[in-house]
Amino acid sequence: MAKNPLKVLVTGAAGQIGYALVPMIARGAMLGPDQPVIIHMLDISPAAEALNGVKMELVDASFPLLKGVVATTDVVEACNGVNIAVMVGGFPRKEGMERKDVMSKNVSIYKAQASALEKHAAPDCKVLVVANPANTNALILKEFAPSIPDKNITCLTRLDHNRALGQISEKLNVHVGDVKNVIIWGNHSSTQYPDANHATVNTVNGDKLVPDLVGDDKWLKTEFIATVQQRGAAIIKARKLSSALSAASSACDHIRDWVLGTPKGNWVSMGVYSDGSYGIPAGLIYSFPVTCDKGEWSIVQGLKIDEFSREKMDATAKELMEEKSLAYSCLN
Ligand code: NAD
Ligand code: LMR
Repeated sequence: MAKNPLKVLVTGAAGQIGYALVPMIARGAMLGPDQPVIIHMLDISPAAEALNGVKMELVDASFPLLKGVVATTDVVEACNGVNIAVMVGGFPRKEGMERKDVMSKNVSIYKAQASALEKHAAPDCKVLVVANPANTNALILKEFAPSIPDKNITCLTRLDHNRALGQISEKLNVHVGDVKNVIIWGNHSSTQYPDANHATVNTVNGDKLVPDLVGDDKWLKTEFIATVQQRGAAIIKARKLSSALSAASSACDHIRDWVLGTPKGNWVSMGVYSDGSYGIPAGLIYSFPVTCDKGEWSIVQGLKIDEFSREKMDATAKELMEEKSLAYSCLN
């Protein structure tokens, strides 16, 4: 029997991530090849004409799974009954700007949109915040939408996770699909800690630990970490625009694994509401290794954390606590 369509909200849909993301959703990359979708696209009035152009293109592309498109500048209409909300709307970082510079513009948007989601989305709506500062925007959204369960509000660090897989695949000259279980700890910012201590590569002789295969602790502790941390900035420098196709693809990965489950033996990184696991202060949206099953994520427990990792995990938690107070000062 054909499934009922799911409603997917994309905010900032006239922007560059939105333009890459909506066709991926309409092709089934987010919710599966047998799941019909209705896409709700929200943007602000100055972008209304461009948004309508995106709607025209979605119609023109004749996607079999696409059962409807709403293109609107009305946040209530956009949020109405949505099952999945991908929050991309906001102001992107430009060359030379730190993420903190975009904070004051973006946190007030997330405060306002929290109440629209709370009142009008489906009660079990799953929320993914992409717009920067992603962790802190998600936290503000959570705090101003108290009736949405904590577990339903997440932010995107899957792009960083995928970047880490990509760097290891290039270093070891193996296919990226054979690398798994890297971890992004903390903030989607240059303080994030990309950790390959538990990552493995699938070889003809079974799974091998990445640190053993790399055999160069210095690379993993310096160049690898710095490259992943700075990849967003490197793309802005090269494109004069922030990442879009990789961000959109990673957003699909995030929701797909959350809804449909992570493959057995694999974990992924998601920015989720911290419960104090690994000594990270509760009440932050912090990126952890998670597995997903039946639409629920759980933090992978019991991983051994060495002193080097501990320091890096705490440094990015500290930045998130500072961002949280800065966000509140911007809202006051
Ligand atoms: P963009 O400027 O191309 O698009 C943003 C869109 O949001 C614009 O169309 C704008 O009109 C719209 N917008 C602004 N205020 C809005 C509001 N109140 N409601 C709805 N829409 C609104 O930017 P982009 O390149 O698509 O990036 C979007 C965001 O994603 C940025 O904050 C960027 O920094 C962030 N980003 C995050 C990641 C990640 O991994 N978490 C990766 C890349 C980019
Ligand atoms: C990215 O990681 O590509 C984006 O978050 C852009 C940025 O502001 O770093």
